[in-house]
Amino acid sequence: MHSFTKLLCLASTISSSLATTSSKSCTDYTITVNPTSSNFIWAAPFRNNFQVVDLLSNIASRTAATSFNPYSGAAVQNATYKISATFCTPTKSTGKKEIVLLLSHGLNFDKSYWDPNIEPQSYSFVDWAIGQGYSVFFYDRLGVGKSSTISGFLNQASIQVSILQQLATAVSTGKYTASFGTPKSLVLVGHSFGSIICAAALAATPDLADGVILTGFNYNATNGAGFLEAFQPRIANGQDPKWHHLDNGYVAPVDIYSNVNAFFKAPDYDLKVVEYAQANRQPFAINEAISGNLVDIQPVNFTGPAMVIAGQFDLIFCTGQCDDVIEHPSAEIFSKAKAFKAVSYPGAGHGLNFAANATGSFKIITDFLQENGL
Ligand SMILES: *[C@@H]1O[C@H](CO)[C@@H](O)[C@H](O)[C@H]1NC(C)=O
Ligand SMILES: *[C@@H]1O[C@H](CO)[C@@H](O)[C@H](O)[C@H]1NC(C)=O
Ligand SMILES: *[C@@H]1O[C@H](CO)[C@@H](O)[C@H](O)[C@H]1NC(C)=O
Ligand SMILES: *[C@@H]1O[C@H](CO)[C@@H](O)[C@H](O)[C@H]1NC(C)=O
Repeated sequence: MHSFTKLLCLASTISSSLATTSSKSCTDYTITVNPTSSNFIWAAPFRNNFQVVDLLSNIASRTAATSFNPYSGAAVQNATYKISATFCTPTKSTGKKEIVLLLSHGLNFDKSYWDPNIEPQSYSFVDWAIGQGYSVFFYDRLGVGKSSTISGFLNQASIQVSILQQLATAVSTGKYTASFGTPKSLVLVGHSFGSIICAAALAATPDLADGVILTGFNYNATNGAGFLEAFQPRIANGQDPKWHHLDNGYVAPVDIYSNVNAFFKAPDYDLKVVEYAQANRQPFAINEAISGNLVDIQPVNFTGPAMVIAGQFDLIFCTGQCDDVIEHPSAEIFSKAKAFKAVSYPGAGHGLNFAANATGSFKIITDFLQENGL
């Protein structure tokens, strides 16, 4: 290569990386929350992986609806936790920066699901949303990343819903939005278990947000137990020393193939992205996985724009084919919504943000918001 051309290439690399870093301004927060919720009490904590796989056998049983119950009761509980969150806003004025997208990730990830450290131009929803002019607020779920650690037998959907309600209220009142104050609008965006949390929060408090996008999600679900079978979870603290602080209630997929089985669909992935997802996977609480079915996730009184979008071949929420099941009963549940759209996104599996053409799904999401005044 001619040295002058080389220099030009170098110059353009530098300026584009400067442009990328200077296009958003991010602030990290450690936020104290005090969730109060009605919690299920786990009866018999696992001592080993034989007990984990026996739970999988029991929950997948034909008679699970009547024969499976891991709980000894329920109680209203409260506690104080720390949540690690990041707020990012475009550095330029965009006309949309006062609309905040509040992102709740799902199981097997931390908040970097929304902003992975691999080819952000192809996989970062945060960078996409910033590029469209929005501000974003995203956080590590309780038990994950830099948020507080609690028992995986205690951590559950009802607690996560209460935390999201507190975070959404705080963000709406301008508490964690750096210098710009009170947002004009708030949109909840979830992935998978994060979508369950968003839907449950809006079912309980329909005025919590102005719009909602449920990704990696579907209301015509047929395969709740198949999710755990595909996942092949094993106790996390025995898998990697970095998870020694977690009790036996935290589990993670046993190998890269179980991760692919649950989150990806060939040929719609890049192997290096799968390897990144596997290296950065996060344990989840067994009680989160099970209690997700026990909260009310039907926000029938929500009136803002609402979207449900899942990868066409999502194993977990569509038993591997979303095409004919994504629309109903989602449309009926959101019958009071200002606008509703259901999308089976071509080619992708459950981990939508890591699919080959993830930005195509990002565009569908932000186009929908823009068409509906957000
Ligand atoms: C938390 O629980 C304690 C004990 O039941 C109760 O006294 C207190 O009022 C509760 N706090 C909140 C914020 O609900
Ligand atoms: C929806 O709103 C109506 C009217 O306020 C109320 O009667 C009903 O209980 C609400 N439904 C749910 C599930 O909250
Ligand atoms: C689920 O999808 C099937 C197939 O399209 C449809 O026949 C059924 O009515 C849907 N279920 C509900 C509750 O809408
Ligand atoms: C990616 O998604 C966009 C928007 O859905 C679509 O127009 C485009 O054809 C897709 N590209 C590939 C290579 O599938």
